[in-house]
Amino acid sequence: MNISDFPMLSQDLIYFDNGATTLKPKCVIDKINDYYTNYSVSAHRGDYDLAYRVNTEYEQVREKVQKFINAKDLESIVFTSGSTESLNMIANGFFKNYLESGDEVLITTSEHASNVLPWFHLENTIGIKVKYIPLDDHHYVTLDNVKKVITSKTKVIALAGVTNVIGDLRPIKEITSLAHANNIFVVMDGAQYVPHFKTDVEDLDVDFLAFSAHKMCGPTGLGILYGKKELLEEMEPVRFGGGMNESFDTPSELYFKELPHRLEGGTPHVAGVLGFGCAIDYLSSIGMDKISEYERHLRSYAMEKLLKIPYLDILNIESDAGIIAFNVDDIFSQDVAYYLNKYNICVRAGSHCAKNLKSETGVKNSVRISFYFYNTESEIDDLVELLSNKEKMRIEMI
Ligand code: ALA
Repeated sequence: MNISDFPMLSQDLIYFDNGATTLKPKCVIDKINDYYTNYSVSAHRGDYDLAYRVNTEYEQVREKVQKFINAKDLESIVFTSGSTESLNMIANGFFKNYLESGDEVLITTSEHASNVLPWFHLENTIGIKVKYIPLDDHHYVTLDNVKKVITSKTKVIALAGVTNVIGDLRPIKEITSLAHANNIFVVMDGAQYVPHFKTDVEDLDVDFLAFSAHKMCGPTGLGILYGKKELLEEMEPVRFGGGMNESFDTPSELYFKELPHRLEGGTPHVAGVLGFGCAIDYLSSIGMDKISEYERHLRSYAMEKLLKIPYLDILNIESDAGIIAFNVDDIFSQDVAYYLNKYNICVRAGSHCAKNLKSETGVKNSVRISFYFYNTESEIDDLVELLSNKEKMRIEMI
């Protein structure tokens, strides 16, 4: 990895908002440019050489994703528009038919909106009950707490692998084993996990997984829905149209394609998929274990310094991922972000789409810094220096 791989980093910029989206390496940008410049035709539609090339490359990326998350079946990999669409497909395309009124879905108060609202929608439409797994003092999920809330009505446990504000790594493998012993499905929201940790769906044994390309050096507008093949076979398409049907005549004479195309109606995001293939190659060339290790190092480096600033309230002193959320005493989080922005430091402020978390932490808004492998100690030093001068912050945030 070389900083010069990221054109955005040639600007005077410190980018600490990687939980929201990540920067793109040049190889990804070049691939997308190449596609739009030289062979921007649709996938799965044409009978000419360019179309054949696009089809081939598009399907090769599916294989890369399969390998990247160690999925057994290629048909388990469905291209979507992002984690949000993937989670909505899981809820509406699968569980809406499977669950009955009174069935329980377990989530936590630290999930972000995309892993809350689809379940709320099922509560509002088919009468399921969304219940919360209590968190421990550090806002972590423990296996014991999961055990405490499982009842005979529990049918789904839907959890982020890593949460987007607390940054806690969930014991997904252990939860899956407990869940399956009780005939409960496990849905993993991998939006903040897959970009930062080596992912092995066979080992985790999750039933469904959702993640987004743009949070892992890939393009926006693209995500992945992974599901065990036998479950995806049961999933109703939520996008009906071209590319997903084999033939149709009347409503009763409507035949869908096989997986995964049955779930990919409409012209696909070809540029996104091809760019994502390069992002996967790029991350793989660094190594996901190295990425996790480096981010852990950045986090402890930052935490050691931030803990010395007496007027900082850090929400997640204990955490596993490169995410730190804090507030400066008496200063509104967005004002802190505004101050840091004056020095070209990008952070996120607010509720970070985890609007239920306040019931747990008592804190509605916070400043969040989230690292990726291209961040450096020296960037953290700059941040710490700016945060260490509260008077300057007060004056300059106006
Ligand atoms: N979930 C995204 C974030 O954490 C939007 O910023």
